[in-house]
Parts: sequence; C-alpha cells; structure tokens
Amino acid sequence: MRLLSAVLKQIHKPPVYTSRQRCLSPLQDEALVSGSSQELVQRLSSQVEVRTAFITEEEEGALLRELEPGLKKKRYEFDHWDDAIHGYRETERVRWGAACEQVLNRVRSVAFPEGSPLLGPVHILDLDKSGYIKPHIDSVKFCGSTIAGLSLLSDSIMRLVKEDASNEWLDLLLPRRSLYILRDQARYNFTHEILKDEESVFSGQRIPRQRRISVICRNLPG
Ligand code: OGA
Ligand code: MN
Repeated sequence: MRLLSAVLKQIHKPPVYTSRQRCLSPLQDEALVSGSSQELVQRLSSQVEVRTAFITEEEEGALLRELEPGLKKKRYEFDHWDDAIHGYRETERVRWGAACEQVLNRVRSVAFPEGSPLLGPVHILDLDKSGYIKPHIDSVKFCGSTIAGLSLLSDSIMRLVKEDASNEWLDLLLPRRSLYILRDQARYNFTHEILKDEESVFSGQRIPRQRRISVICRNLPG
C-alpha cells in the first residue's frame, strides 16, 4: 500500500464558520485547545491531546537531518486542485537511525495501546510556508482509531469540525516540537485541517505559520 495523501484522505467541503465566543480549555496550562463550546471541549478532552515540548531541539535536529535529504529531492505540489493538501511534499519511512527510532518509540508508547498493530511506515508531510491542509477525515479503510503527529519547524493550528454539524469545532494550537493525538470520535466524526498562514489565528492571537514538517504515526483499522 502506498501511504500517499490521495489514498489517505476523504475530502470534505470546507464548512462555513460562524463567529462566536471561543471557549478555552481549563484543563491545559497554556490553553492549547479552544472550541465552539465548553461542553465540546470537555467532551473531546480524552480524545484530543496536545503535548508541548514532546521532543527537544536536539531531537528535532536529528529528525530533520534524517528527513531533509530525501525531501529536498522532491518538489512542492501546488496545483492539484482536488487534493486535500496544498503546497506540500511528502514521503514515508520505515527504518530510522537510533536517535529517531527512540523518539518514535516514545510517540508510539504514549499514543497507542500496547500491542495495537501500527501502520508500518511513518508518514512525513512537509508543508511549504504557503501550504495548508484542507478539511478531511483520514481513510477509515487504511487507518485505525488513532493518529499521532509531531510538528517540526513551525507552530500551527489544527482545526477540527464536526462532520455533520459545522457549528461544533475545536482549534488546537500545535507548538513547534509538540505532539498531538486524535482518537476515536475526534478522528472519525470530525474533519481536521491545518490552517494557512493568513488564517492562522488562535483565540485572537496571530500564530505565524512557517514551513512545517509533520511526522505522523497511525495504527491499522481493527
Ligand atoms: C494528514 C494530516 C496533519 C499534519 O496527512 O492526513 O492530516 O499534522 N496531517 O500534518
Ligand atoms: Mn489527516
């Protein structure tokens, strides 16, 4: 199976947002989760996690050294209008050097239940500064209940919107070197997207988007 974006995504039309009061999560120190209602933030709190400083600068450097040579050989894709992602290049990797393997094992141990069969290759997505990810739900055919991603090089905002009720949404602030985890309903019943630089505002605060590389681990469907 090829882990390419076209295979992984089921695209959804971008919903229309109504401006309304955002509710910050009281559960996280730095309020990394904001949503359409306090009730929704609470309800999804066990299914959405953002862990700041999950990797060190050194670990980020090790991942970049391992990934950059391969990525640099590819060109950013901009012109596939029907694609879920704009301004990106991607790859996947099965074998890693020791330092990176250690980081990935830490991701796996916090994100997935022990013994849960994982998708072998790790997915690497390199978004250009002008790149963004449109609302989509990862393919239920190829991916299981949990998605875990490291963010390298840039802060960004991930938006979740309820598939059948676009007035229910959560914004996640994903700081550089953080880990996010989406599980269960948050993964199956909400679209997720990464906002473009121009729209990158979290709780009224502008979050500039630079080039961003994500390293994404997934499990297999049950
Ligand atoms: C994806 C995706 C999010 C990210 O590739 O399906 O949603 O963090 N990526 O890059
Ligand atoms: Mn996705």
